Amino acid sequence: MIRVNQAGEYGAARIYAGQLAILKGTPAEEALTEMAAQEAEHLQKFNRLIIEHQVRPTILQPLWHVGGYALGMLTAMMGEKAAHACTIAVEEVIDGHYQSQLKRLESPIDSGIPPLNAHSINVPLAELIEQCRQDEIAHKETAIHLGGRNAPAYAALTTAIKKISRTAIWLSSRI
Ligand SMILES: [Fe+2]
Ligand SMILES: [Fe+2]
Repeated sequence: MIRVNQAGEYGAARIYAGQLAILKGTPAEEALTEMAAQEAEHLQKFNRLIIEHQVRPTILQPLWHVGGYALGMLTAMMGEKAAHACTIAVEEVIDGHYQSQLKRLESPIDSGIPPLNAHSINVPLAELIEQCRQDEIAHKETAIHLGGRNAPAYAALTTAIKKISRTAIWLSSRI
């Protein structure tokens, strides 16, 4: 869980960096900068857990470095609304991903994971995931508010980005 979440927050930070490279000086800049700052905070917290629990980071980090930035740049080049549509798609997938992790942390026996005691990683990890999840939901709402749903080819664009996000999650949780 720590590995895939660190990878996801890393990817998110890179997406916003790519979007900001294109949309600096536009009305989108302020919202993007704010969201990017929160992603940096999320990433910092999972980076700390990676070290504390000696988790091997995903070997795909270089791919997320380039791929996240490219996704951010490409969507921003399609316009501000497309950039926000990207956020809507990514955050929707992440919300679901975090929800399923929270479910596993609440019922470790059902998921086949040995139960952990009250002093275990479970409680702080679940709290961090829930904190991040709330921020991601807020990002999605900001992106909707800024017209992301009116982006050209919204359905096709978000379907593609969701597929990419799910694949990235699937891969990062394994390698
Ligand atoms: Fe995040
Ligand atoms: Fe986010």
